[in-house]
Amino acid sequence: MTRRISERPIPRRALIMGATGRLGVAVARALAHRGGNVVLTARDEKKLEELASTLETETGRRPTIVPKNLLDDDAPAHIAAEVVKQGPLDDVVLACGPFPRTPIEALARADLELTLRVHAIAPLLLVNELASELAKREGAVVALTDSGVQRPYHNHVAYLTAKGALQTGLRALAVELAPRVRLNMVSLGIVADPEADADPLRTHRMASRSPLGRFGTPEEVVHTVLALLDATWATGEIWGIGR
Ligand SMILES: NC(=O)c1ccc[n+]([C@@H]2O[C@H](COP(=O)([O-])OP(=O)(O)OC[C@H]3O[C@@H](n4cnc5c(N)ncnc54)[C@H](OP(=O)(O)O)[C@@H]3O)[C@@H](O)[C@H]2O)c1
Repeated sequence: MTRRISERPIPRRALIMGATGRLGVAVARALAHRGGNVVLTARDEKKLEELASTLETETGRRPTIVPKNLLDDDAPAHIAAEVVKQGPLDDVVLACGPFPRTPIEALARADLELTLRVHAIAPLLLVNELASELAKREGAVVALTDSGVQRPYHNHVAYLTAKGALQTGLRALAVELAPRVRLNMVSLGIVADPEADADPLRTHRMASRSPLGRFGTPEEVVHTVLALLDATWATGEIWGIGR
């Protein structure tokens, strides 16, 4: 049997987790502009409303919003129920924060618990909650992870540990949910560095560690996310960019 990319029709309906972040907004905008219906989730309801209004003005279609804190135990079930209640789902993009600085001298149990809950436990449970719905439509999941999992950097043990757990968990889920649901990841170098303003030389120093010698742009991340959503012969893969 010959399979073609066009077997996954556009428009599709996509959930974006961390939709109000710098990369989440770019992904939501790209999916909406290519004709998709988007569902936006993050904590801040006002920001979600503003983004929904902007995208409605730009595309003529109003996204659905689902405000929820991923630290709440019921977040995966709540978000999944809200999404499915309003229609079928084809794609999920996992792009949630935070990026806490956790100097090793002060690393605490709470730091590890928080990052594991937001970056690994909640996304993995959400994908699992949505698995049967995604399976009906040959669904795809793409998660944003961090090149620091392979090549760690200072002051982020909690965050990098959680991203490592997310990667392992999603690769295991990719095996469990194949062949009806595909899960892939984009492992990024730096798009934005929160500490760059305080230390301008830092930007140069960090950018020059990458062979391409610069930080990436949200649009370059979006390009890879869209490609993996459409990559019908890839699952459990990690595509590294900007590192
Ligand atoms: N930017 C980079 O250079 C870079 C590099 C490598 C990897 N990444 C990864 O790429 C993804 C997106 O990065 P970004 O720069 O766009 O992040 P960002 O701008 O900090 O946005 C984070 C998003 O997550 C949401 N969020 C944070 N805590 C949450 C919680 N407890 N519950 C629900 N939502 C929560 C935020 O909205 P609310 O505050 O309203 O909840 C926001 O929508 C992240 O997974 C990040 O680790 C980014």
